[in-house]
Order: sequence, then C-alpha cells, then structure tokens
Amino acid sequence: MSLNLNESLPSDRQVQVNLGSRSYCVHIGPGIIVRADIMRFIDGDQVLIVTNETVAPLYLEMVREQITDKKVRDIILPDGEQFKNLEVLDEIFSKLLAEKHDRSTTLIAVGGGVIGDMTGFAAATDLRGVSFIQVPTTLLAQVDSSVGGKTAVNHPLGKNMIGAFHQPRTVIVDTNTLQSLPDREFSAGIAEILKYGLIADVDFFNWLEREIDSLMSRDVGKLTYAIEQSCRIKAKVVRSDETEQGVRAILNLGHTFGHAIETFQNYRHWIHGEAISVGILMAMQMSYLRGNLEISHVHRVSELLQHCSLPVKPPHNMTIVDFNKLMLRDKKVRNEKLRLVLLEKIGKAKVIETFERELLQRVLSEFCGPDPSSA
Ligand code: NAD
Ligand code: GLY
Repeated sequence: MSLNLNESLPSDRQVQVNLGSRSYCVHIGPGIIVRADIMRFIDGDQVLIVTNETVAPLYLEMVREQITDKKVRDIILPDGEQFKNLEVLDEIFSKLLAEKHDRSTTLIAVGGGVIGDMTGFAAATDLRGVSFIQVPTTLLAQVDSSVGGKTAVNHPLGKNMIGAFHQPRTVIVDTNTLQSLPDREFSAGIAEILKYGLIADVDFFNWLEREIDSLMSRDVGKLTYAIEQSCRIKAKVVRSDETEQGVRAILNLGHTFGHAIETFQNYRHWIHGEAISVGILMAMQMSYLRGNLEISHVHRVSELLQHCSLPVKPPHNMTIVDFNKLMLRDKKVRNEKLRLVLLEKIGKAKVIETFERELLQRVLSEFCGPDPSSA
C-alpha cells in the first residue's frame, strides 16, 4: 500500500512536549529523517541504533547516513511483541557493555512501539540513564508510544510490567515510513488515533469519522493532521501528569481489557492496536450501562472500527474467567481494586475508582458469552 501523494505534500509540523528540563519536540513530515538534522540531538561520540530484522533493511541505512563523525553501531533484534522481554533487552545491554559505550552514548530507536519501548527502557537503565531518540516507523508508534516517555518490557504474567519513565531527546516522525507499513498495522494505528478523539476532543473525533476513508487510503495531508493532533492531545495530558499519578491514565482507554487479551495470547496472534480496538468498545459498553453514553454512540464507534477492519469482539476462546483473572494484573489496580477508564461522553474520559461489579460482569458476558463454569 502506498501513500496517496496526489495532494500537495504538507509542510513539516512540530509538537512541543513541555516538561521543564526534559522538554522536547516531535518533528513530523515526509522525508524528515533526512531533513531533521539529527546530529543536533546527539551530544557524545557514541551512538547505538536499535531496530529489528523487518525495519533494518528499510530504514537503518537512511538513519545511519545522517550521523557523521561518531562511532555508530547497530543492533538488530528479532521482530515481534513476544520478543519484548528481559531476555532480548539483555542483548542491548550486552552490546553496549561489550563495545564500551559510556554515559555520553545516545540510543536511537528505529521501528514500531516494541523497539521504541525496549530502547527507551535500555536508555533509562544503562549506566543509570543515557540519552535516546525515537524514530517511530509505525502509525501507532508515531501517534502514541514514541511520545511521553513510557518505556517497558513485558513479563509472562503481565504486559509492560517492567519499565521506567524516561523521556526521549526528540521524536522524528517521518510519514514516508508509513508507505511500507502492512494494512493490519496501519489499522492498529488508526485505533489509537480514534482513542484520542474519544477521550479528549469530540471535534477531532467527528473529523476522523468524516475523513475515515481518506485516512484509510493513506492520504498524506489528512494523516499528517491526524498524527499532529494525536501528538498534541498526548503532549497536553503528559505535561499535566508525566508519571501517571492521575489524569494520564485516560490515555489507557480500553487498555485494561486490551492488555488482558494480549497477555492471554502470550503476546502473539493479535497485535496491540487490535486488542485496544475491542477494549475501547468494552469500556464504551460499560460507560453506556452506567448511564453515561447513548447506545447509539457505542454502535457508531463499533461500525467505525469494523470499517477499519479492526476486531470488535475478544478472541473466541477467551472467557469471563480469563478476563477477571488477567484484568487484576493491570497497572491501574490499587489495593487489589480495579480502576477503569470510561467515557462520560464522546470527547471526555474519566478514571473511575468505584463502579458496580455486576455491570462489569455484564459487559464481559455480553462480549464473551456466559461464564462456562456457571453452566
Ligand atoms: P510493533 O513495534 O510490533 O510494529 C508492528 C510491526 O510493523 C512489526 O512487525 C514491525 O517490524 C513492523 N514495522 C515497523 N515499521 C514498519 C514500516 N515502516 N514498514 C513495515 N513494517 C514496519 O508494534 P506497534 O504497533 O508499533 O507498537 C506496539 C507496542 O507499543 C506494544 O508493545 C505496546 O505495548 C507499545 N505501546 C507503548 C506505548 C507507550 O506509551 N510507551 C503506547 C502504546 C503502545
Ligand atoms: N499509552 C499510554 C500512555 O502513554 O500513557
């Protein structure tokens, strides 16, 4: 699938993430890997580019060519969510230590959210913290995972359970990289973009709904606008709550359900954005049952997600029992109590601390069918 370049190319866009001494800019534009002057974000003499076996043949050389007069090394990791773990992370540390990288090293993540999260965590912990740059190459990473400084690896018992907050020095979003992205990955990114409209901006959501066909045909101008708006919303939320003491949790609409699906599948089969698609609908159904949303809004979003070839039901073999067990491992759990991100209306989300347990069970049974153990 190639980008629709019939429209004139949009000019480069910038989104500022204001976090005091940790502030940085997200640079968005076609071909911006070549034009961003990445050298100005690299202080020391050593660079390690981290990528994977799928992305390396596409974009590794392009990034490497921008870095002159430095010792540039690379590491190519296996591709897949199932490799986002401590064992594979250790390969990055081994490389850094074996090649005697010091504290002035800059790590550069070139890839999707898996590479970004792992590189960020390596940068947060190597020698107690080194600098890193995000060059996200999936739509999902461009609108979400590369911005905001959450870094992590998965554990067999739970998604993103081991990690740190560590902000990148800059984020370089080259929209040309979306040309090579498979359709399924592209749709997963659309799910996260819809999330931003749902949690924070009804006008943006209405625009996304109107323009969904242009976006799905990868109209470069519309995509650039959607990426910029998404990053703006994320930057605003992160600025007000960098380490998720409160409001930042709204960025996790659908994630309590979605992460349970990913953990259930041992991080295989479904991709992150697909699990989030179902999770968003389950959270919306819960919001409807609590009297906050009209059912027509739930149906409207369900149709939109299906239009983008995204799933709207959990995996057929996942039961209520699985959900109940796995959701309790969510990072939003406090004192063994689940907290949920729900919608008050389209464009406004809230973290709910206390809710009616039976309503949650009703949502689970509507999406999974009845509890098999009660038959
Ligand atoms: P991913 O990193 O697995 O990338 C998806 C696939 O696309 C991979 O096979 C990858 O090799 C391939 N790919 C990447 N760029 C490509 C390109 N330009 N052309 C062709 N193929 C390309 O998945 P993702 O959806 O990017 O990220 C999901 C991960 O991000 C999950 O682990 C999730 O937990 C994490 N995440 C983190 C945050 C955060 O705030 N840190 C937010 C959202 C998601
Ligand atoms: N993706 C959720 C967050 O960054 O907080």
